[in-house]
Amino acid sequence: KKVSLIGAPTDIGAGARGASMGPEAMRVANLGPILQGHGLEVLDRGNLIGPSNPWLPPTNGYRHLDEVVAWNQLVHDAVYTELSDGRMPILLGGDHCLGLGSISAVARHCREAGKKLRILWLDAHADFNTNELTPSGNIHGMPVACLCGHGPKELIEIGGQVPAINPKWVRQIGIRSVDPGEKKLVHEVGLEVYDMRYIDEMGMRHTMELALATMDVNTHLHVSFDVDFLDPDIAPGVGTTIPGGPTYREAQLCMEMIADTGRLASLDVMELNPALDVRNKTAMVAVDLIESLFGKSTLMRK
Ligand code: ARG
Ligand code: MN
Ligand code: MN
Ligand code: MN
Repeated sequence: KKVSLIGAPTDIGAGARGASMGPEAMRVANLGPILQGHGLEVLDRGNLIGPSNPWLPPTNGYRHLDEVVAWNQLVHDAVYTELSDGRMPILLGGDHCLGLGSISAVARHCREAGKKLRILWLDAHADFNTNELTPSGNIHGMPVACLCGHGPKELIEIGGQVPAINPKWVRQIGIRSVDPGEKKLVHEVGLEVYDMRYIDEMGMRHTMELALATMDVNTHLHVSFDVDFLDPDIAPGVGTTIPGGPTYREAQLCMEMIADTGRLASLDVMELNPALDVRNKTAMVAVDLIESLFGKSTLMRK
């Protein structure tokens, strides 16, 4: 199996600076060699180069819209190129606004290849705001809404078709922070959300069984992993920590059950913020979990 690492060093869509250093922190935590150790052929494509962060207040409910569009265009093109070459893209963020570019490329690839797309959105947040609903103007709170066609023209068109995806293709896991207006829209659209209460009551195993159901041999599984999905105790190095997330064991099981499907075909690892981390521990836990996502297990399987 061939994978390509794509660094997207920007915090253009975030409300805290520092996610721009995420790609390098994951390299320092040895992501490439560790994946190679699992028999993958790893190509590190280096970092994309886009506009710098002007750090301005929002206008019309969007902070840095032009720069966000430019970065997402770059990400879209890079991810699409890897998929066209038969390689699995691993996007190293960067803030989560770039999930729009990544997933719109994946959706385009699936359209052309006649594949069924499933998206697992691992996050504390639903990222389903619009410029009218957002409390912050930060576009990293909007990518899922944009993918579903709710957003500014320049952003929602990036993958060549509006909407880029059907909300029915998405399963969100670990959610515990949704803004009031965002909550209504999530409900209207009928997003399949497994929030922390669901995980508390039903357990991670049952949650993942449901979230991973309805996949078949023709399914392309995309995982968009916002590191703030994890409990801040194990992952303090993110800009928008929300208490009460999955523990280390729950997160491991989540990744292992995804790996067991054998369908993982593209991945985003987003929102890692080394400026807020402690001795790179969040990068190391992220890499450890990615290793499980690619089949690391304690014992021989099957
Ligand atoms: N819901 C909040 C907002 O829209 C926080 C979004 C956080 N998103 C993220 N990808 N970390 O401002
Ligand atoms: Mn393919
Ligand atoms: Mn988040
Ligand atoms: Mn997110």
